[in-house]
Amino acid sequence: MSKQIPSTPSGVSVDAQRTTAATPTAVEPLLQDRRSFLRTAGVLTAASLAGPRLHALVAQPQSESATTSANDRIRLALVGAGGQGQYDTSVALQVPGVELVAVADCYQGRLDHCRERWGNALFTTRDYREILARSDVDAVLVATPDHWHKQAAVDAMRAGKDVYCEKPMIHLYSDGPEMIEAARSTGRILQIGSQRVSSMLYAKARDLLAAGAIGQLNMVTAHWDRNSAIGAWDYTIPLDASTETCDWTRFLGTAPQIPFSAEQFFQWRKWKAYGSGVAGDLFVHLFSGTHFITGSKGPTRAMATGGLRFWKDGRNVPDVMLALFDYPEGFNLNLRVNFVDGGQENEGLTFTGSEGILEIAGNAVTVSRTPRETAPGLTVGTFTEAMQRTMRKQYAMRHPAQHPVGPPPVALDRYAAPNGYNDSYDHFANFFHAVRTRTPVVEDAVFGFRAAGAALLSNLSYERDSIVHWDPIAMKIV
Ligand SMILES: NC(=O)c1ccc[n+]([C@@H]2O[C@H](COP(=O)([O-])OP(=O)(O)OC[C@H]3O[C@@H](n4cnc5c(N)ncnc54)[C@H](O)[C@@H]3O)[C@@H](O)[C@H]2O)c1
Repeated sequence: MSKQIPSTPSGVSVDAQRTTAATPTAVEPLLQDRRSFLRTAGVLTAASLAGPRLHALVAQPQSESATTSANDRIRLALVGAGGQGQYDTSVALQVPGVELVAVADCYQGRLDHCRERWGNALFTTRDYREILARSDVDAVLVATPDHWHKQAAVDAMRAGKDVYCEKPMIHLYSDGPEMIEAARSTGRILQIGSQRVSSMLYAKARDLLAAGAIGQLNMVTAHWDRNSAIGAWDYTIPLDASTETCDWTRFLGTAPQIPFSAEQFFQWRKWKAYGSGVAGDLFVHLFSGTHFITGSKGPTRAMATGGLRFWKDGRNVPDVMLALFDYPEGFNLNLRVNFVDGGQENEGLTFTGSEGILEIAGNAVTVSRTPRETAPGLTVGTFTEAMQRTMRKQYAMRHPAQHPVGPPPVALDRYAAPNGYNDSYDHFANFFHAVRTRTPVVEDAVFGFRAAGAALLSNLSYERDSIVHWDPIAMKIV
C-alpha cells in the first residue's frame, strides 16, 4: 500500500509543500492532483502509473515423491479431533506417503465423525495414551486445547513418536523448557504448527527484507480484527453435549476441577484455564511470522492494554488487546486484535522501513518503495518575499540535482502466491520430510517457545498492569 500523504485544508499535501518550495516553477503544479503533477514533472515511474508490477511466486517442487514406497509410509494419529485437528489431518493426508491410523478425542461425536470421514478401520479412543502405546503409530498430531499441548506432546515424544503440535506451543511458561528438553532427550522431531513460517509469501518477505527492499526496518505493525460471533470464539455446541458424550475429566486435565460445562468444553478459548486469550490464539501467528521474516529471536520488553468490551458472556479474557514490543534489532512490533470491529474482518502484517513499506495481506506481499530525498526541503512561505527569493536562489544553487522534485515516486511490486496456495500443506510437508530424513524442521521447539513466550507476555503485561521484560535468548521472564 502506498503511504498516505496528509493533506492541508486546501487539499495540498504538507509533504509536497515542503519539498517543492525549493523550486518556484514547481509551485503551480501543486494545485493539481498528485498523479497529474508527477506526470507533468516527469518523475512518475512506469510502475506507479500503471499500478504495481506483478510477480507470480512459484511453488517449490515437492520434496517427497507421490510414489513413496510402502516402507516409507508415515502412520499418523490425531489427538484432538476438533476444528483444527480435522482440518490439519485433511491437509496432512494430501502429502504423499501419509496415512491416518488412529484418533483420540474427548467428545464421542468427533470420534464418530472421524470414522465417517476416514473409514471404520480407524482406531478411535477417548484416551490418547492408548494411541501412544500402539506400535503402528509413527507420528502424532496434537490439536487439543492449549492446556493439553505440552503434556500430549511430551507423552508422545517419550513414547517414541514424532510430533506436530498446534500453536501456541505453550500455555504456561514452564511448558517451554519441558518441551524443548523432551525433544532433545528423546531425539524426536517436534514441529510447532504456525504454518506461516512455511509460507512462500513469508519466505519472499524475508528475502526482500534481507535484500534491503525497504531499507532499515524500524516498525512492524500487525492486526487481526474480527466482526462476528464465530470470530469471537462462539463455536456451536452439539445437541448431545453431556457427560455421557464428553469425557469432562480428561478434557479438564490439570485445569481447575469444576462441574461439566458444555460452553467451556466447546468454547474453551474464552477461559484462560484452557486457552491463552487473543495473544495465544492470534498474536502468536504474528510473532512466528515476524521472527521468521526478520530472523529475530524475540522482544526484550512488552506492554499491553485492552479490555473485555463487548462479548460479556462469562469469558475471562479480553476481546480487544493492543500490545507493543521492543526488539533488540532496533524495531518495534505493534499488535492489535479487536473482536468488536465494526468494519470488515481483516488481518495484515506491515513492515515499515526507512525506504519503503512491505505488506503481507491475502495471498500477496506488496512492497512500495519511496527513495529518500537527497535535499532537505525548504519551508520559506511565511518569510518576506525578498527573503523567499534569496533563499530559493541559494537552495537551487546548493542542490542543483535535487531529488525528488515534488512528492517522490513510489514503486510498487506485488508478489502473489498461486491461486489455492496453502501454507499448511507446506508446513506438513516440511514436518514429514524431517520425519523421514531426521533433519531439522522449520519451526522447532525453540522457535515455537520464542514465538509463544513473546506472545504471552501480552497477557502478563495486561494482568500485571505493567511493562514486562523478557530475555529472548535465554527464553526467560526477567
Ligand atoms: N494453526 C492454526 O492456524 C490454528 C487454527 C485454529 C486452531 N489452532 C489450534 O489448534 C488447537 C485446537 O483448536 P480447535 O479450534 O480445533 O479446538 P476444538 O475445540 O475444535 O478441538 C479441540 C479438541 O480437542 C479435544 N480434546 C480436549 N482435551 C483432549 C485430550 N486430553 N485428549 C484428546 N482430545 C482432547 C476436544 O474434545 C476437542 O474436540 C488449539 O490449540 C488452537 O490454538 C491452530
